[in-house]
Amino acid sequence: MDDTSKTVCILTFGCQMNKLDSQLLRGELARAGFAPEDDPDRADVVLYNTCSVRQHAEDRVLSRLGAHRRRAMREDGFVLGVIGCMAQRLGEGLRRKFEFVDLVCGTEALLRVPGYLRQIIAGHGPVVDVRQDGPFHFDRTPSVRVSPHRAYTSVMRGCDRFCAYCIVPYVRGREVSRPLEEVVEEVRLLAADGAREVILLGQNVNSYGKGLGGVTLADLLARVNEVDGLARIRFLTSHPKDMSDAILDAVGGLDKVCEYLHVPAQSGSDAVLRRMKRGYAAAEYRDMVDRARDRIPGVELASDFMVGFPGETDADFQDTLDLLREVRFQQSFVFKYSARPGTKAAEFPDDVPKDVKMERNRLLLKAQEEVDSGRRAAMVGQEVEVLVDGPSKADAAKLSGRTRQNDIAVFRGPDELAGRLCRVRIVDSTPLTLFGELLRARADHRDAENTERRQL
Ligand code: 5AD
Ligand code: SF4
Repeated sequence: MDDTSKTVCILTFGCQMNKLDSQLLRGELARAGFAPEDDPDRADVVLYNTCSVRQHAEDRVLSRLGAHRRRAMREDGFVLGVIGCMAQRLGEGLRRKFEFVDLVCGTEALLRVPGYLRQIIAGHGPVVDVRQDGPFHFDRTPSVRVSPHRAYTSVMRGCDRFCAYCIVPYVRGREVSRPLEEVVEEVRLLAADGAREVILLGQNVNSYGKGLGGVTLADLLARVNEVDGLARIRFLTSHPKDMSDAILDAVGGLDKVCEYLHVPAQSGSDAVLRRMKRGYAAAEYRDMVDRARDRIPGVELASDFMVGFPGETDADFQDTLDLLREVRFQQSFVFKYSARPGTKAAEFPDDVPKDVKMERNRLLLKAQEEVDSGRRAAMVGQEVEVLVDGPSKADAAKLSGRTRQNDIAVFRGPDELAGRLCRVRIVDSTPLTLFGELLRARADHRDAENTERRQL
């Protein structure tokens, strides 16, 4: 069998950046003659694109790998690979633990995956490549994206912040921003292929531009805002310290940039924030929220929070609860601290007991749910703009989409509205979903263009 008839299944763990890397690699593999396969049991090649951010994320992959042992031992042609953050972190160690893993490929070696697979298939034995030799760039296959109407674009990789708990700077390396024109061109390609919303990705996206001679995220947003056919722009994930007024003004002033900021606070306690090396006190975070609300009418903020960081007391945790309730986030992602070997925080005793971490996790989620139901109930009667994804998963007779503030909205309407902007009046809500009725499909950019063409 030659490698052109080999099928590859990529299983992805971790953040949006990983999801994007998997998509880009799928495009690259297709160009190299490999065929995609969704079912790992049927694929000739199974690749795990992995995450190291918490021990739990690694454990899930490690147990899945174990389950491939029999097939890997018995079947000659079967290739098993581990790529991405955990591959970067564990390197050779992964093959010592699982000798049947054929390929271990780190975060900066992804472009070399197709070549390595060919070598392995040709019988040249296993490969481990965790070289970190700087920026690399996949040629974008525009049609390979998260959904027909939505696409991720990587604008920078790596992180220079070194928060005490975080493995990312070690596994993803230093910050490298992509040239502005290159990003704009990629967004043009995506929009020309039908993407209506683009999500600009970076581990620390609002510090975009380092090394590009004075270019900032605000400049990039202004340029991407001009791309024809595109209806919406979002960007993820921001650091509170890098949220300049210029960026906030760009979000407030540019019509396509959604009024939604994902800016993890992590904690509401100054003592914990200091030990986390976050670089701000809770009051500065609150100030950033005030600046955002002053400059961006209707803005909503989302946050990540970590519970059980070393030394976190009940009083520290109370400060976090207070911050969450006071800001009334649109969404909060809550994580239990887990020590990552090699980070600064791993030197501190992991002294918050597991059951206390679990209880704080529960309490924070409960507080967020209270915010959620209050916030969404208060939206009943309002008119919102929804970008329609397609039929709702819960009820195929209805459509589902997102508001500019990233809330899920469900309403009745014809399937042809998928990918279109609609005006919807909210008539009901649950903690996580808005229910509405269709007022009209907005004559958005693309419709306006079609009208122009018809008139010509
Ligand atoms: N333990 C638990 N959660 C972590 N995060 C990052 N590192 C750790 C860790 N060591 C969380 C942070 C970050 C999110 C992506 O994961 O909240 O914002
Ligand atoms: Fe996980 Fe961080 Fe790697 Fe994303 S960058 S996959 S969150 S370790």
